[in-house]
Amino acid sequence: MVVRSHLKGDFFMDAFTFYNPTKLIFGKEQINQLPSQLPSGTSKVLLVYGGGSIKKNGVYDQVMEQLKKAEVEVLELSGVEPNPKLTTVEKGVDICKTEQIDFLLAVGGGSVIDCTKTIAAGAKYDGAPWDLVTREAQPQDALPFGTVLTLAATGSEMNAGAVITNWETNEKYGWGAPPFTNPAFSILDPAYTASVPKDQTIYGIVDMMTHMFEQYFHNPTQSPVQDEMIEGVLRTVIDTAPKLLENLESLEHRETILYAGTIALNGMLQMGYRGDWASHNIEHAVSAVYDIPHAGGLAILFPNWMKHNLDVNEARFARLATKVFGVETEGRSEREIAEEGIQELRKFWTSIEAPETLADYNIGDDKFDVIVDRSMKRGPFGNFNKLHEEDVEKILEMSK
Ligand code: NZQ
Ligand code: ZN
Repeated sequence: MVVRSHLKGDFFMDAFTFYNPTKLIFGKEQINQLPSQLPSGTSKVLLVYGGGSIKKNGVYDQVMEQLKKAEVEVLELSGVEPNPKLTTVEKGVDICKTEQIDFLLAVGGGSVIDCTKTIAAGAKYDGAPWDLVTREAQPQDALPFGTVLTLAATGSEMNAGAVITNWETNEKYGWGAPPFTNPAFSILDPAYTASVPKDQTIYGIVDMMTHMFEQYFHNPTQSPVQDEMIEGVLRTVIDTAPKLLENLESLEHRETILYAGTIALNGMLQMGYRGDWASHNIEHAVSAVYDIPHAGGLAILFPNWMKHNLDVNEARFARLATKVFGVETEGRSEREIAEEGIQELRKFWTSIEAPETLADYNIGDDKFDVIVDRSMKRGPFGNFNKLHEEDVEKILEMSK
């Protein structure tokens, strides 16, 4: 294995400014707050949602009731697909421009929210929305938007990121332009997540855990507060996940997982350093070629990223093993502890029925070259360890 960067013994946090403008509104029946959260003067709202889950579980009716109280005109953009498509963004931008929409409301999971973020910026941009996603252009403005979250996973409800897929070119990229792509508010009622099916609940758990791992593997190492916070949230998710999967209707466990998902990626855990994020980059390339659930890809790739990068900082992996997975240390080398930690993560994800290999999605190696090409589009990547083409190839080989 080629290890290209090592810790330099820099024991200080990076300088940082933290600002998260999203108002988080959390708890039972908090949808009642919706009318008062709309900016004053709002008259035309575009309601953005997915394939219909909100109509089955009653969330749509509750949202509409509140929008009626707010006395706003409501237009709808439905059918946002999981791994949202550029074409749907374009549809939304057209509606905003022709109908003079003044506020967007996303009701759904990360896909609906990401699509809405990109529509919001695209509506105030003269060129093609894809320019924003590829970062060829920087938005100077955006329509304001809020969210009603229905799935605990991405953290998109309280961050500026959005991930959009262009199916014509098989490209899927994350982008964001704070504060334009930060939601003005997000309403999180655990009851709205009670209808999430088992597979999506598993994906959500894997996604939020991987967000924490991505941040945990960072340079420099002077981050004792952040480390303890991440370890604590990870232990809580690991403890709660099997209980929730036993009883998907448990609002107690839904609440814990919902809050954990937001905390995992709203910037709170990542002050003073840059997370790694290489596995996310590779996964986005995989799901740009094969339309698989984001966290299904992560569950396969991330343990192999760990194995590939073990030599970069064995102590970091060993700490994770002991503090999060309770691996025994007595009479054992740091490497043995670190390796057992990776195995424990794999065992845990397998125990909650997350996928293990690309073959689980019938993905062979015939398009590895395209995946490698797409993941290298923005050059070598990863902040804990820079990955180059041959590293991505190896991680994909290990994931077959
Ligand atoms: O479309 P509907 O009918 O609403 O059904 C959805 C969808 O099929 C369903 N669902 C959502 N809430 C439900 C529900 N079903 C029943 N009851 C409910 N309450 O779940 C399915 C998956 O939804 P989706 O929004 O795609 O899932 P998720 O929240 O995991 O979002 C995945 C997308 O977010 C991106 C991923 O790459 C992927 O495109 N990510 C966004 C990030 C961000 N913005 O910060 C970070 C992540 O790392 C990730 O990359
Ligand atoms: Zn993710």
